Amino acid sequence: MQDEADLGKTAALNVVSMVAGYGEVPIVQDVSFKVLPGQIVGVVGPNGAGKSTCLKAIVGIIPKMSGSVLFEGEDVTRVSTEGLVRKGMGYVPQLNDVFGPLSVLENLLMGGYLLGRKEVKLALNSVFEIFPRLEEMSDRSANKLSGGQRKMVALGRALMLRPRVLVLDEPTANLSPEMSEVVLHEQVPRLSAAGVGVLVVEQKADLLLSVANWSCVLVAGRIAVSAPTAELRQRSDFTDLMLGGSGVVSGNSSVSSS
Ligand SMILES: Nc1ncnc2c1ncn2[C@@H]1O[C@H](COP(=O)(O)OP(=O)(O)O)[C@@H](O)[C@H]1O
Ligand SMILES: [Mg+2]
Repeated sequence: MQDEADLGKTAALNVVSMVAGYGEVPIVQDVSFKVLPGQIVGVVGPNGAGKSTCLKAIVGIIPKMSGSVLFEGEDVTRVSTEGLVRKGMGYVPQLNDVFGPLSVLENLLMGGYLLGRKEVKLALNSVFEIFPRLEEMSDRSANKLSGGQRKMVALGRALMLRPRVLVLDEPTANLSPEMSEVVLHEQVPRLSAAGVGVLVVEQKADLLLSVANWSCVLVAGRIAVSAPTAELRQRSDFTDLMLGGSGVVSGNSSVSSS
């Protein structure tokens, strides 16, 4: 239950008893959580738990078998990915969707493909307000950037359509520990500070849990815990939950879960 955290606000994103999978096979089952405007909600869990499947179902890449998804109170369960993007739900997949041969600016402009010329200019300015570094790097080829900088370009690209919710699948995949920290402790908070509700999936649970307001632990396709992050961290079975059978807390492999 996230109702206590609501304070009367309409959730930006409300996932209710969602079931989804591939073909006839359900992978995620009875998944429910909310993302409030400006909130960072983390989903952590072991490899293969169904985190990416959950996000793909939310953003309409795969169909939902049952349950529903509300965007700012509107039922968008059957809305296509493209339709969701137009409504204000952005998705940044795990694999970087940055075009290497293009410049940073060209990548950002591609993100504004739905906008008119005037709107593009405004959108670009608002992206540069959130990530001033992108303006400084505008002319650089994306190929020449570090992994962390490329992720910033991917986030900037998704921001071009001024989403109120951004869904991020393992934004630190393939990044060094230092870069991962930059992404989760600097870049993601800039999104939420701009009022965007951020739903982020991570295997690097320790890093994510230090920035998320609310966290869900997904184990074998089901939500094992959904709680304010501060509360989750206090639980005596925290380590067991996080280990979920396969040591999901990075840098914690020596912890025994007896
Ligand atoms: N395209 C697919 N078709 C069939 N099964 C899939 C597909 N993608 C993932 N799966 C299965 O769904 C389960 C959850 O995968 P995934 O959502 O990628 O987990 P996570 O992101 O938590 O690592 C795994 O058992 C995986 O094999
Ligand atoms: Mg995944």
